Amino acid sequence: MKNSLLDYILRIRLPITIFVIIASFTLTYFASRAERDGVGYMPDQPINYSHKLHAGDLQIDCQYCHVGVEKSRHAIVPAVSVCMNCHTVARKDSPEIIKLTEYYNQGKALPWKRVHKVPDYAYFSHSVHVNRGIDCTVCHGEITQMEKVGQMSSFTMANCLDCHRNIHQKLPDLAGINKGPDYCWACHR
Ligand code: HEC
Ligand code: HEC
Ligand code: HEC
Ligand code: HEC
Ligand code: HEC
Repeated sequence: MKNSLLDYILRIRLPITIFVIIASFTLTYFASRAERDGVGYMPDQPINYSHKLHAGDLQIDCQYCHVGVEKSRHAIVPAVSVCMNCHTVARKDSPEIIKLTEYYNQGKALPWKRVHKVPDYAYFSHSVHVNRGIDCTVCHGEITQMEKVGQMSSFTMANCLDCHRNIHQKLPDLAGINKGPDYCWACHR
């Protein structure tokens, strides 16, 4: 009798317990990974601003609004005053533009929700990448087709490194540029 209880614990309970522990660790690991990975994240924004309309149909240049892309680390999201260059006139009776104008008149910044974000301990700079001729679409997808911006590609370390090591296979048109660095302190300064 005693023997068979021990036998039961070792042969049946223990393997199941171990399986459950491993399975739950694995699930939590991948779930938190997916959350951090961020692909598919597409938050609602305070104003229904459409890239498809502005950057696609109206063909406004990305840099008209994202002035930092060639010069600095951050691309920068434009201030309301940039929108008002046109919207003191264009569609000023539409509800979304009335909302926009209220922010402007009150001198308030629009609380745009951030879509893409690498953790603070990792260093990324737009200017280096953009000045080497890497197009926005390589990392952000077809923004000119998006009514609402969502994250299209993963910015995990593995993904940064994959491009740094294989840039010439991935983007054969850019055969002349250097590979990206893969030593740790390039991105962890
Ligand atoms: C008229 C101004 C304007 C133009 C032109 C414009 N954008 Fe934007 N962009 C914005 C605003 C405002 C936001 C923040 C709201 C949002 O995410 O939709 C934004 C957000 C983004 C984001 C997401 C930022 C984040 O939070 O991570 C990306 C990526 C982006 N734009 C890329 C582009 C690209 C690529 C082009 C050119 C093809 C472009 N934009 C043209 C105004 C503009
Ligand atoms: C270079 C001029 C220009 C700039 C800059 C611009 N827009 Fe527009 N926007 C337009 C035009 C033109 C339309 C109307 C297009 C149409 O319906 O024919 C429009 C339409 C819109 C609409 C849809 C309005 C409706 O209900 O029909 C919204 C919302 C909007 N813009 C928000 C913004 C925001 C937010 C910014 C700043 C980040 C911005 N726009 C910057 C020209 C501009
Ligand atoms: C090599 C990949 C890559 C390319 C190319 C790239 N981006 Fe980004 N973008 C990122 C990453 C990574 C982030 C998040 C950066 C962070 O959290 O500091 C980001 C964030 C942004 C943001 C959010 C605001 C900010 O300043 O961080 C905007 C807007 C943006 N990108 C626009 C653009 C535009 C416009 C272009 C093309 C001219 C472009 N990006 C090209 C990878 C890229
Ligand atoms: C589409 C390919 C591509 C992706 C994706 C990419 N990079 Fe790069 N990166 C490059 C290339 C190419 C260079 C080398 C440019 C040169 O030195 O001429 C570079 C250079 C760099 C540098 C060196 C900059 C300097 O100041 O010398 C850093 C840091 C960097 N990348 C960080 C990142 C991070 C962090 C990510 C992910 C969030 C990332 N990169 C994603 C292609 C890429
Ligand atoms: C091309 C840029 C780049 C290089 C080179 C790089 N990293 Fe990272 N690293 C990142 C980014 C971006 C993240 C944050 C995203 C993530 O967690 O994948 C990160 C995250 C990390 C983390 C946190 C991981 C976690 O799961 O929480 C550690 C630890 C780390 N890196 C160590 C290193 C070491 C050690 C090296 C050198 C062998 C290195 N990194 C080289 C970009 C880089």
